[in-house]
Amino acid sequence: MSHLLPSLLRSVPSFPDDLPAFGVGEAPEDPVDLFEGWLSQAIDAGVLAPHAMTLSTSGPDGVVTARTLILKDIDERGWVFASRDDGVKARDLGANPFAALTFFWPALGRQVRVTGPVRQLPQADGEADFLARPPESRAAAFVGHQSEPLGSREEYAAAYADAVARLAENPRLVARTWNTWAVAADTVEFWQASPDRAHVRLQYRLHNRAWERGLLWP
Ligand SMILES: Cc1cc2nc3c(=O)[nH]c(=O)nc-3n(C[C@H](O)[C@H](O)[C@H](O)COP(=O)(O)O)c2cc1C
Repeated sequence: MSHLLPSLLRSVPSFPDDLPAFGVGEAPEDPVDLFEGWLSQAIDAGVLAPHAMTLSTSGPDGVVTARTLILKDIDERGWVFASRDDGVKARDLGANPFAALTFFWPALGRQVRVTGPVRQLPQADGEADFLARPPESRAAAFVGHQSEPLGSREEYAAAYADAVARLAENPRLVARTWNTWAVAADTVEFWQASPDRAHVRLQYRLHNRAWERGLLWP
């Protein structure tokens, strides 16, 4: 075990010195508008995978799991993501249809947290998302067995090659297991780091179908 780890962990910087200001007084009424502004700024700042988020779920036994996913859209149904319907997250959501999403954009010292109930969207949405994926991602989604133990990399390579061949034969082929879900946000929290550690937290809460806003202690 390394003795260097604690000092190494203490020495790494989290944020640049120069951080954007967060004028909470000018925050829009709808958190999605603020999110879109922050996402654009993350893209402009060159943040890699600014659309990547941690999806946290819990299963029937209360065990919590989290993984990174790509945000696909935000519409009247919620914050949309796409995945297989036979993996751990789908199993968790089937048992407990609530989730949290977390975005982290270190270059800007920003975090966004979303919570809410989740529902699976119609199969047609999953098909549209599947067909919009690049060919290699479609093949990867076709392989199946996600999160099951894998015997060897060769086994995967053979299954992937088989999926590539099937899709080459029929490019309109859709993996039935590919689906989309939407998190209907009931809280959205915006966290802005400040060089003096007086970090700013603004939370939106849905109350009687209207958004209420309030600051949180950092
Ligand atoms: C940056 C990044 C983006 C990812 N995007 C997705 C995605 O959009 N959909 C997906 O099913 N898995 C995606 N993954 C893989 C998941 O993190 C995870 O390994 C997989 O979905 C299995 O999760 P589960 O076993 O908890 O269901 C992504 C991984 C990374 C690192």
